[in-house]
Amino acid sequence: MKNVVLFGAGQVGTMVSRLLGSGFAISCFADNREGKWGSFIAGIPVVSPEESLLFAPECYCLCVMDEERASQMETQLRELGFDGEIFQAGALRAFDARVATMRLLAEQIHEKNIPGDVAELGVFRGDFAVLINAAFPDRTIHLFDTFEGFPSEDIQIEFDHGLSEAKAGDFSETARDIVEKRLQNREKALFYKGYFPSTFQACMAKEFAFVSIDADLYAPTAAALPLFWERLSPGGVLLVHDVNSLQYTGAGKAVKEFCLEEGILPVPVCDLHGSVLLRKEWKA
Ligand SMILES: C[S@@+](CC[C@H](N)C(=O)[O-])C[C@H]1O[C@@H](n2cnc3c(N)ncnc32)[C@H](O)[C@@H]1O
Repeated sequence: MKNVVLFGAGQVGTMVSRLLGSGFAISCFADNREGKWGSFIAGIPVVSPEESLLFAPECYCLCVMDEERASQMETQLRELGFDGEIFQAGALRAFDARVATMRLLAEQIHEKNIPGDVAELGVFRGDFAVLINAAFPDRTIHLFDTFEGFPSEDIQIEFDHGLSEAKAGDFSETARDIVEKRLQNREKALFYKGYFPSTFQACMAKEFAFVSIDADLYAPTAAALPLFWERLSPGGVLLVHDVNSLQYTGAGKAVKEFCLEEGILPVPVCDLHGSVLLRKEWKA
C-alpha cells in the first residue's frame, strides 16, 4: 500500500479521498491556504505542503483540475525537495461518474419501460443535455434555462443567506440555438427559455422518467424538486448536481430541506461535484 499525500484540500481533493482504492493510504491533505491548516476532512489532517513532507509520503496526488495550477504545484513540491512519484487527479476529467450514472439509469429505464419524458433544469451550453438526449433518443427532452445566466432575484437570495458568490449573469455565454444545434435528436427537444419556475407552467400535466437538476442556486433547485418529484414515474429519478459543492451550497441546502420534508434518503454519486439521486419507489 502506498503512502500518499493529497495536495489540494478543496472539492477535488475531498472526492479523490473517496475515489482512491485499497492500494493507497492517505497520510494527510496538503494545501497552500493557511486558513485550512489544522483542520480535518473526513478525519484526515490538512497541513502545509512543507509539513506534509514530514509524513514521508511515497507519492503526491495533485488534486486540481487546472493543468497550469497542477504544474505550479509540482514545481513547488520539487523545490521543497520531494523526488518521488507525483500523479494528477486531472486525469479524472476524462471519466465522469455523473455521466456514467445517467447512462446506466437510461439503460435501466428503457429495460423496465419506466414511462415519462426527460428534462434538464440548468442547461447552459448543453454539455450534459446533449448526453441525456443521446441516452434517451426516443424520449422528449424538456430544457429549462434563462439562456442569459443566473437571474438577479435568485442571486439576491444567495447573497442574503451567504450561499455562494454567484453573480447575476454568470453562465450567460450561451443561447438556445447553440444548444439546439448540438443535440443529436433535436426533434425531441422542447426549450423553455426564461425564469424557472415560471417556465414550468407548460409542463404541469407531464410525467418524467429522468430529470437533471443543475441550476447551482438555492431558489431554482428548491422550486424544481417538488415540481418534478410530484410528476416522476415510479422508478423515475432526479439527478441533482452540486449537492456537496463547496462553491455553491444552495443546491445542497434545497435537497436537504426537501428530503427532510418528504422523508427521502438521497443516494450519493461520487462525481467531483457531489451529485445525488432521488428515486421514486418502484414495484415490479
Ligand atoms: C451550471 S449551469 C448548467 C450546466 C449544464 N447542466 C452543463 O452540463 O453544462 C447552471 C445554469 O442554470 C441556469 N439557471 C439558474 N437559475 C435559473 C433559473 N431560476 N431559471 C432558469 N435558469 C436558471 C443558469 O442560467 C445556468 O445556465
